[in-house]
Amino acid sequence: MEQTIFDRKAYAAKAREAVAEGSVLLRNEAHTLPFAPGTRLAVFGRSQFNYYKSGTGSGGLVNTGHVPGILEALEQSGGVQIDAPVKACYEAWLQDHPFDAGEGWAAEPWYQEEMPLDPQLVQEARERNDAALVILGRTAGEDKDNSAEEGSYLLAAAERQVLEQVCKTFPRVAVVLNTGGILDMSWVEDYRPGAVLYVWQGGQEGGLSAADVLLGYRAPSGKLTDTIARRIEDYPAFGNYGSETRNFYGEDIYVGYRYFETFAPDKVLYPFGFGLTYTDFSVTPGAAEMGKDAVRFSVTVENTGDAPGKEVVQVYCEAPQGKLGKPARTLCAFGKTSLLAPGERETLTLTAAFGAFSSYDDSGVTGHKSCWILEAGTYRFYLGTDVRSAACVLETSLPELVLEQLEEAMAPVVPFERLRPGEATASGTYLPCKEEVPLRTVNPQERRKERLPEELPYTGDKGWKLGDVADGKVTLEEFVGQLSDEELCCIVRGEGMCSPKVTPGTAGAFGGVTDALLSYGIPVGCCADGPSGIRMDCGTIAFSMPNGTCLACSFNLELVRELYEFEGKELRKNKVDTLLGPGINLHRHPLNGRNFEYFSEDPLLTGKMAAAQLQGMHPYGVTGTIKHFACNNQEFRRNDVEAVVSERALRELYLKGFELAVKEGGAYSVMTSYNPVNGFWSASNYDLLTTVLRGQWGYQGIVMTDWWAKSNDEGKPGERTNTSAMVRGQNDLFMVVENAQQNSMQDNSAEGLRSGAVSRAEFQRSACNICRVLLRMPALLRLRGIETELDRQLAESAGLEEDGLGEMYYVQAGNRTELDVSVINTEKGRNTQFSVSLQERGLYTLSLTLRSSGGSPLSQLPVSVFQDRKLLDTITLTGEETQWKTVTLNLEPAFSGSFYLRLFFAQSGLELRSCVLEMTQSLEEQIRAHMQ
Ligand code: BGC
Repeated sequence: MEQTIFDRKAYAAKAREAVAEGSVLLRNEAHTLPFAPGTRLAVFGRSQFNYYKSGTGSGGLVNTGHVPGILEALEQSGGVQIDAPVKACYEAWLQDHPFDAGEGWAAEPWYQEEMPLDPQLVQEARERNDAALVILGRTAGEDKDNSAEEGSYLLAAAERQVLEQVCKTFPRVAVVLNTGGILDMSWVEDYRPGAVLYVWQGGQEGGLSAADVLLGYRAPSGKLTDTIARRIEDYPAFGNYGSETRNFYGEDIYVGYRYFETFAPDKVLYPFGFGLTYTDFSVTPGAAEMGKDAVRFSVTVENTGDAPGKEVVQVYCEAPQGKLGKPARTLCAFGKTSLLAPGERETLTLTAAFGAFSSYDDSGVTGHKSCWILEAGTYRFYLGTDVRSAACVLETSLPELVLEQLEEAMAPVVPFERLRPGEATASGTYLPCKEEVPLRTVNPQERRKERLPEELPYTGDKGWKLGDVADGKVTLEEFVGQLSDEELCCIVRGEGMCSPKVTPGTAGAFGGVTDALLSYGIPVGCCADGPSGIRMDCGTIAFSMPNGTCLACSFNLELVRELYEFEGKELRKNKVDTLLGPGINLHRHPLNGRNFEYFSEDPLLTGKMAAAQLQGMHPYGVTGTIKHFACNNQEFRRNDVEAVVSERALRELYLKGFELAVKEGGAYSVMTSYNPVNGFWSASNYDLLTTVLRGQWGYQGIVMTDWWAKSNDEGKPGERTNTSAMVRGQNDLFMVVENAQQNSMQDNSAEGLRSGAVSRAEFQRSACNICRVLLRMPALLRLRGIETELDRQLAESAGLEEDGLGEMYYVQAGNRTELDVSVINTEKGRNTQFSVSLQERGLYTLSLTLRSSGGSPLSQLPVSVFQDRKLLDTITLTGEETQWKTVTLNLEPAFSGSFYLRLFFAQSGLELRSCVLEMTQSLEEQIRAHMQ
């Protein structure tokens, strides 16, 4: 941590580097890319004008300054000459086909209507230009999955028409995909463009970075973190996805390349780990060394081409089929070279820990139930630059090795069958066969009863503050022993959205959310979305990060760690203690709407990336909340759809990334998922949160729910109010309620304590978890008024510039004045300002009458009201609040008789019926009242 100052330019440069490193070049025939200086270039596709910096929903709502798109960046660079007539043609068409932002949360269409191309326009453009660039875009996001339809996972007919026209007319065509994740790619074989490049959603620097890559200022060096299959139906989860109630994870551990390499290599168009760059490399394996608990591979990479570049080397293990059955390949190590000049070489050492290729026996078939095990037999290790071409570099026999004895947890209760390899075929693959999934034999409720924590003696208020624990004067347990039942019930309630107790516009506040809790010196921790940067719904500008998939494709842990050092400083500067990210669910199915936030179909890469982000932020005292624990693999009915999944698939895939983030990344904040897993909603899943997370992994941090998530008693439906079940599971915080003190959500904590459904000791345990984490958060320093050198430096450094603040309207206000709501722009990201002159000075209120235009109960529709530069309030309605509601805010006394009012809508979907300024007391009355 040499340089602590928040340097915006260095931040941007690092992000720009990361996007190039994450960009995946799938095809580059005859050096189509990069475009040489001065290339005359015709650019097609409407996404040249609307770059997608991220997807939508909580993982995309970062308010940022101007984000240059790819066309703008190319123009700015001066590196190529953009064809003016083609550009003008698009501009004219866009006048009548403006960007459709949709109405509200998750309502933006994933695809925007594409301009059909007139063959004559293309022909004439061909005559004027050397090459063509086609830019296609997609967004995606929360609450809505992609679909296997045109304009979603599949290209729309209009996009195909563009590709067809351009590819048949131009000899040199590059296609750029500005998408959150992978799309159907079968069209590459139909139109055969010279180059195909995924630039993903690269955050605020993404357009600039894409231009860098297209012009060859930087080489792309990303590798696919997902397998691209020929058809969507080829994905192993295809038939086990999309249910309203329950998805059976019948493909078990055979997700992504684990499936394709074992059963169906022919179905793959682009293998996992694949990606080209602008040069060639030779990869020469060196010695492989078998250690006590890891295998070490040495490999020399040489740049044999004529441009600088970086290469990613991957090691895959093929474990013996044994009794459990194994995937033909499992990623167990990877590394990336530094930038190698032509002729330059570098030797990498890649370490594959045994744990990275061991299996979890959930049935006991090996004689070691609930163990991580290496079955006896031949282990082959393959090294290369993608899963398919990696060649065998080591074949070795290992005896049976039990790595870790655990205990059964989270096994399913509903019977179903899972996939496993059957007979081997002549071509080295396996015939698919099925087996019954082992079912639960240990009831987690019984387990809980046997392992209840001991109650801490209740002392009442002894005058100890949390700071006294920090100073070593009392123990954490003594401190928590002071809290009454009422206070314990309050401490498990987080407040939000946009709590006035923390940084304006953020998602949640927790800890000292009531006067009583605050009086013990418990600070209020602040958390803010999310994976793509700090979301502040009041419009505060923050840095918009490249999306998760893009960063993971870089396979560059060091680079990601460095980028997240900047995020760490920005969080600290904005007084946010934990970012609500990274999102680390697996890409189980390409149609999941939130894949853009997540990293990969592979758990090792996912866990290492998450750990790198946390390690980047931790030196600044802040952290990230790894989410959504676990199996948030579908957005459709995300609140209720149950994941029915074997314990083995959980351990080897769905929990693995979280385990690495905890053990290697030192995670101390976890968010549970909305959905139930094997009978228990995650927030009340005792085995998930207590047996596995805390018991087996040694986790010491907090667990919070997703926003307004449900909990349940076994066999009962999930309910938001069931905080008793939540606390029993050891999910410490319900996020979020409006008012913790008043129990505005009417949760059943107090009732649970009275009836004995949950014990006081369990509440105390959660209170300890919350306080333990607050002890290490900057929130405690803030409360104690301690300004560290780091805080001082960050406060002095410049923040991110504010963007324009919208249209300004002048208002002469009488005692009661209706502002003209027709001029107020209620679209996402828009500000409207009023310059108000009062005819009479005094105390005023502003009453907004507003409603949602419809949407799900989980939609968040915030509007922030500022008076001058001060945030008065952020009012957040949910999508289901469709009845008119009037909210009245007290304005600050305006002694000068004039002030600015600003309304900022962070999301579209709110309707405003009236906005009334009203005097409640004249200055004269005020003075009179004061005199009396
Ligand atoms: C999302 C979370 C997010 C939370 C707070 C939820 O809808 O699922 O990922 O952190 O909202 O905005």
